[in-house]
Amino acid sequence: MADTSAQTGADTGADTGAGGADGADAVREQAVEAALAKLDLDTKTRLLAGQDMWSLPALPEIGLRSLVMSDGPIGVRGVRWTADDPSVALPSPTALAAAWDPALARRAGRLLAQEARRKGVHVLLAPTVNLHRTPLGGRHFEAYSEDPYLTGALGTGYVQGVQDGGVGTTVKHFVGNDAETDRFTVDNRIAPRPLRELYLAPFEAIVKNAHPWGIMTAYNQVNGTTMTEHRYLVNEVLRGEWGFDGANVSDWMAARSTTGDIEGGLDVAMPGPQTVYGPALAAAVRAGEVEEQAVDAAVRNVLRLAARVGALDDAPPVVADAAALERIDGDALAREIARRGFVLVRNENGALPLAAGTSVALSGAAARDARVLGGGSAQVFPDHTVSPLDGLTAALPDGLLTFSVGADPSDELAPADQGFTLRAVCRDAAGAILGEGSLPNGQVQWIGDDLPAGVTHDTLASIEVTGTFTPRESGEHSFGTRGLGAYTLTVDGRTLFDGVQAMGPETDPFEAFFGSPVERGRVALTAGETVEVSLRHTLDKEFAAPLPAVMFSFVHLGPRRDPDELIAEAVEAARAADTAVVVVATTERVESEGFDRKDLALPGRQDDLVRAVAAANPNTVVVVNAGSPVEMPWRDEVAAILLTWFPGQEGGAALADVLTGAEEPGGRLPTTWPVALADVPVTEVTPTDGELDYAEGVFIGYRAWDRAGAVPAYAFGHGLGYTTWSYDSLVVGPDAATVRLTNTGGRTGREVVQIYLAPVADGVERPARWLAGFASVEAAAGESVEVTVELPRRAFEIWDEAAGGWTFVSGGYEVLAAHSLADARLTARLDV
Ligand code: BGC
Repeated sequence: MADTSAQTGADTGADTGAGGADGADAVREQAVEAALAKLDLDTKTRLLAGQDMWSLPALPEIGLRSLVMSDGPIGVRGVRWTADDPSVALPSPTALAAAWDPALARRAGRLLAQEARRKGVHVLLAPTVNLHRTPLGGRHFEAYSEDPYLTGALGTGYVQGVQDGGVGTTVKHFVGNDAETDRFTVDNRIAPRPLRELYLAPFEAIVKNAHPWGIMTAYNQVNGTTMTEHRYLVNEVLRGEWGFDGANVSDWMAARSTTGDIEGGLDVAMPGPQTVYGPALAAAVRAGEVEEQAVDAAVRNVLRLAARVGALDDAPPVVADAAALERIDGDALAREIARRGFVLVRNENGALPLAAGTSVALSGAAARDARVLGGGSAQVFPDHTVSPLDGLTAALPDGLLTFSVGADPSDELAPADQGFTLRAVCRDAAGAILGEGSLPNGQVQWIGDDLPAGVTHDTLASIEVTGTFTPRESGEHSFGTRGLGAYTLTVDGRTLFDGVQAMGPETDPFEAFFGSPVERGRVALTAGETVEVSLRHTLDKEFAAPLPAVMFSFVHLGPRRDPDELIAEAVEAARAADTAVVVVATTERVESEGFDRKDLALPGRQDDLVRAVAAANPNTVVVVNAGSPVEMPWRDEVAAILLTWFPGQEGGAALADVLTGAEEPGGRLPTTWPVALADVPVTEVTPTDGELDYAEGVFIGYRAWDRAGAVPAYAFGHGLGYTTWSYDSLVVGPDAATVRLTNTGGRTGREVVQIYLAPVADGVERPARWLAGFASVEAAAGESVEVTVELPRRAFEIWDEAAGGWTFVSGGYEVLAAHSLADARLTARLDV
């Protein structure tokens, strides 16, 4: 029964990259060269620019099909931003990371490859392997960890999995896109040592261990050079030192200089057709500003990518028969990853799992309307989601579950969703209908050619979001708009607004997508009674959007109830039940691409709700539905806390599995969880005069907490299961640590054995401890298992800034075999 198939980062199985012992690589290279030789300058430069939002042009003359790319880390959206073609939505990257299991990441990758193939996508725009430099980073939920080794190990598994399925990846965002404020322009000042030891390290591990077929260069600058033009980091480090031979794709609209980009090693400028490549690049070659050889090198990289994914005739794809691969059940995998990533950070008096027959009072708006994924380009549209209420309703016997809202994390209007059935009617300037599109919710998001059939940007003059609304609750419902331009808003025959939302001082071109909703009026409605709704948006052709796009939302908010009354209702229900489960959450206005967080507080009255419920019921379990850390000022007042991240489409089912004890929560924190923002060592995300100084050097995450001598709420690596473990022995050598441990609890469980190195004083400034390796073991109650964790040479090295290279630091180390950073079980001395 013992499962010691330890996964230690680099060791996740066969690689699917450059290898090619069968000579297939050589055949692909020949095909690439033959194809390249047939292309003229204009065609070559055309191939290096997006033909639209998501794809490169096909070149039938060389047997090249159009290469299609799509976001992103937790699912494959496909080339349309609609629910017409739904996608499996896996848990957020922080959740996947919390499972500390590269083999699970690899399975996630394989599923995403299957999804990509189904949708005609060749290249997945993922994974995000920037670091959790600070929990204020808006895309924190979309990256794995504050630790570069863990990030690299998970990214390796993920990329291998996607490529196992014959689909490419673009490991992103190379490099230093660790926050969102002024992301297009910020100059991140990062000294060589932290750049190498922290920010580049995951990319290096992934390039060396998984041989990714693509990389995405970031918007930001590093040390004065914008990343799409960074010759040193791209040509010398990524390609030269590490041997990357894939395609370098710009982040969307990051390419800003024809000569700078091509000389900086950028192969593909996305999106198109208006970019700095294409005709502009051909002209630069003709003007003698760019060597044609540089264009050829980029084309070669693109053709190699095409060959690998099977989009170039006469080149054998890396995966010969991807269609024949065993089909993966996406729903089941989403559920498995969710519970494997749930982190039980507190469990007093065996509050969890719930005993059979326990009655449960569930509260929190997110228990009913779960937040399954984070905001921005990582969004996909699953065909269903299982909320905590759905999951518990299915799992508990009738009569044992009650639900009350208790508190709502948002008092803002949000894209019309529950109870709305909407479609978009597109008209030309004369009012004639051009076409119609279905809408998953009130958000219209048509970028580039992603328009309903029959509609073009030239002919489109107005879009009417129209349909019906059947409220769940009686009372005054608020309606409004989000986005710039002219609107007419009608509900149940009443015109609530007929006017223009003018452009403000916003800078991010995606403001209409990420911006603030505006309330336009309220209408009293009755639960269950359907009314007609319509929002007509007339396009302002004067307003020059950065690319052809239609982005606006029809927003809504249900009746505002007295917050104290809502809490009182939940308290009453909690008092009457054996156990109270409160689901607290962030919103897409808190955690999203496009902006950073301002604080770590739970929005709205959620803290008050938890406190009031906990005061009424000693068995209060709090479920935290957030992609990254939040303050939990009540954490010592409740019986249990389960972090569920953004748990993906099956989150509620996985939650029921874990609460009832059918499954163990498997997660360990991939990031330090602070008590309060004030304690967090690194919080600066706002540049000064355009520069953001990574002044903390190599001290981020637990490295910084250790240095400050500060104690977080929950340490890196922390997480409880439903069994207990004794660590019996630790034997170390220079290359590996072997740990023997016993499951001392009453049920089968899984333990993540974490190995940290702590240098004994050596005069070199280094963190007090760092993660050197890890492995999972599974054992039945009473069973002992042994696991060997490799200690990579890099774990003992630092980047020597003076010499410009890695230096092995000899001397004494304490090797810690730990349940978490704060819970070392065994220590051994190692001299290297
Ligand atoms: C994001 C990328 C994403 C791209 C395409 C950008 O704004 O930074 O992560 O892949 O858009 O959606």
